[in-house]
Amino acid sequence: MTKELPNIAVLGATGVVGREILKILVENNVPYKSIKFLASARSAGSKIEFKGEEHTVIEATPEVFEGINIVLASAGGSTSLKLAPEAAKRGAVFIDNSSAFRMEKDVPLVIAGVNDDDLKLHKGIIANPNCSTSQLMLVLKPLDNHAKIKRLIVSTYQAVSGAGLKAINELTENTKAKMQGEEFKNDAFKYEIAFNVIPQIDVFCENGYTKEEMKVTNETRKILHLDKSVPISCTAVRVPVYKGHSEAVTIEFEKEITPEKVKEILNNAWGVEVMDDISNFVYPTPRHAADKDPVYVGRIRKSIAFDNGIDLFCVADNLRIGAALNTVRLAQKVIEMQLY
Ligand code: A2P
Repeated sequence: MTKELPNIAVLGATGVVGREILKILVENNVPYKSIKFLASARSAGSKIEFKGEEHTVIEATPEVFEGINIVLASAGGSTSLKLAPEAAKRGAVFIDNSSAFRMEKDVPLVIAGVNDDDLKLHKGIIANPNCSTSQLMLVLKPLDNHAKIKRLIVSTYQAVSGAGLKAINELTENTKAKMQGEEFKNDAFKYEIAFNVIPQIDVFCENGYTKEEMKVTNETRKILHLDKSVPISCTAVRVPVYKGHSEAVTIEFEKEITPEKVKEILNNAWGVEVMDDISNFVYPTPRHAADKDPVYVGRIRKSIAFDNGIDLFCVADNLRIGAALNTVRLAQKVIEMQLY
């Protein structure tokens, strides 16, 4: 028996990712019975326009989740920690953008189109992976199916929008100040981001890696169901780009795989677009990927550092596949698979 359409709520509807979620709910024509827009007490009462109608933002209290079937949440880790159990307790499926629950055993960590079956194991909370992990999964999954990943080395070049509105504004103000030869006091980043790159995203862990780097490592392993023995290493770097994360990726495979085969597999992969023709200087850049859905892959070549190794460069819009787009796609899967 098909279920009634869900009542949905967008938590953090006033934020950078929340607004992107609203845009994609419309673009993807997601079906629902009713929709609520939730944020903190600060913006409760303010108005949001959605599908040509004005809606009032409601303060996200536990009681608000009464009767809600699906929550699309992007309101930060501490808010999720507080509200996800409250929503789940009231029968909602809470799709969370924060890192709060990603590594919990009972919480599926899912990229739509990669490990959808894991959604069936949910107990009220589903986690959306970190932005850098997300784009990588759509590329790696079909390659792992074919030749089995043996070792993985990732270097990221991450846009400032991943760090929120304050960081976006800081890149603009810092650039202006630099051009005018004025002093600038950085705040969102440890160093000035204009005309610079910063090899630190999030705090440092005991092993010398940053939390962001360990998120890529641990989340990749969980989503692709990789064995603990598969070594994964990541270096995450912030670059002065507004939108679009880039990643240089080296993959060693168990089985032999040629660059031509990689191109063929990725040409047929869902959510991925190959842009690779070096004779015509065709390869992806963040400017190309901004505001688009696919993960773009280029510079596919045989690695000269490993047997059965492939080097490639992938780029995607960090606010879309890295956050809002996958959140909406997960909601669509939950509806299609009737998991609410
Ligand atoms: P608000 O606009 O009321 O502060 P961003 O990452 O762009 O800063 O957005 C964060 C989003 O999360 C905003 O919509 C923000 O609402 C919301 N938010 C922050 N703290 C809470 C909270 N304690 N309860 C509910 N929503 C929150």
